[in-house]
Amino acid sequence: MTAEALPQRLKAALADIVTPAYVADEVLLRRNMATAARVRAESGCRILLATKAFALPAVFLLMRDTLDGTTASGLYEARLGHETFGKEVHAYSPAHTEKDLRELLKIADHIYFNSVSQIKRFLPMVRAAGPEKKVGIRVNPGYSNATVGGDLYNPCAPNSRFGVARDELDQLPWDDIDILHVHALCESLHDGSAALIRHVGEKLGAYVKRVKTVNFGGGHFINKPGYDVEVLIQAIKEFRDAHKVDVVLEPGGGLVYDTGYLVATVCDILRNGKDIAILDASASCHMPDVLEVPYTPPVVGAAEPGVHPHDYILGGNTCMTGDVIGSYSFPQPLKVGDKIVFADMMQYSFVKNNSFNGTPLPDLGVLREDGRYEVVRRFTYDDFRNRLGR
Ligand SMILES: Cc1ncc(COP(=O)(O)O)c(C=O)c1O
Repeated sequence: MTAEALPQRLKAALADIVTPAYVADEVLLRRNMATAARVRAESGCRILLATKAFALPAVFLLMRDTLDGTTASGLYEARLGHETFGKEVHAYSPAHTEKDLRELLKIADHIYFNSVSQIKRFLPMVRAAGPEKKVGIRVNPGYSNATVGGDLYNPCAPNSRFGVARDELDQLPWDDIDILHVHALCESLHDGSAALIRHVGEKLGAYVKRVKTVNFGGGHFINKPGYDVEVLIQAIKEFRDAHKVDVVLEPGGGLVYDTGYLVATVCDILRNGKDIAILDASASCHMPDVLEVPYTPPVVGAAEPGVHPHDYILGGNTCMTGDVIGSYSFPQPLKVGDKIVFADMMQYSFVKNNSFNGTPLPDLGVLREDGRYEVVRRFTYDDFRNRLGR
């Protein structure tokens, strides 16, 4: 990596960063929050952070100014949102258990169900918890433009377990439902967001009439270059005008797109037909989506093989053969001790980490707006040990 290629703020902090480390950059987060603030202000919608994509309480203060709250995938995330973010707490699960729901009702103000049977079974429990609790139902809209990862991330793939299917909608207790929820997008640009909103208006209009709020889920990649937020704003405004309902969005990845890094160090370089650099970071433990999607994450200052003179395969420090991050080219030869900076590493990264092989978990760090680098969590052997029982 050439030092010149590094963003100025990271360059100044790099010497202080003990690797491996995730580094959230507050300046970039604030830039992304400005996009969300515009969508919110100009369309009149509410925006929640889906903490499944990004859960870093150390920067929640900054995000709270803009966003309306958090949405959780289950009890623990809901508790995290309640304790560390505040504001609205929405909670969905493919299937709530009675035990979890009892706890959820103490902290979440919006409870979403996934099926006819769950809502019929638990509606009395939610209503008994008080009139301020809102009830949502996830509907499978039969629309998706999710192409990333094939059907792996397509909530509307054939026989998907997510959301009430169209032919079951009339079995729902609509008089007792406050929110119609759809989640159908993955890393979508504006055309996908607007098409989903139109689709719901056209195909589910009869049900939209029965609720006060429509939640258009996540997958709106509003901060990705090429996403025209004006198109989203107009689509929401038209929907609100036509149906006289409130609109909620709950993006995760789209709020933290390109707001931070995973910084690693070259531990060794070896050759087997090609030059291979082994890092103190791992695809398998620290960048699971690299293997799951799969994709090759951007490295600051590097390019595809053959572009710069020095090609390397970057590999992780685990025993798994497939723990390969990708093939890159660099302007200069790599050497042991060099730092490698992976970009766009805030979404679905540290929230999905594991310590397979006893691989240490990266530090969680924040590059504060004034340029200070602050480690907010350093993991030790005890973290690994304690998960394994006595
Ligand atoms: C119900 C629901 N809402 C919101 C999200 C957030 O999606 P994204 O991070 O793609 O915006 C997801 C992601 O899986 C989801 O399942």
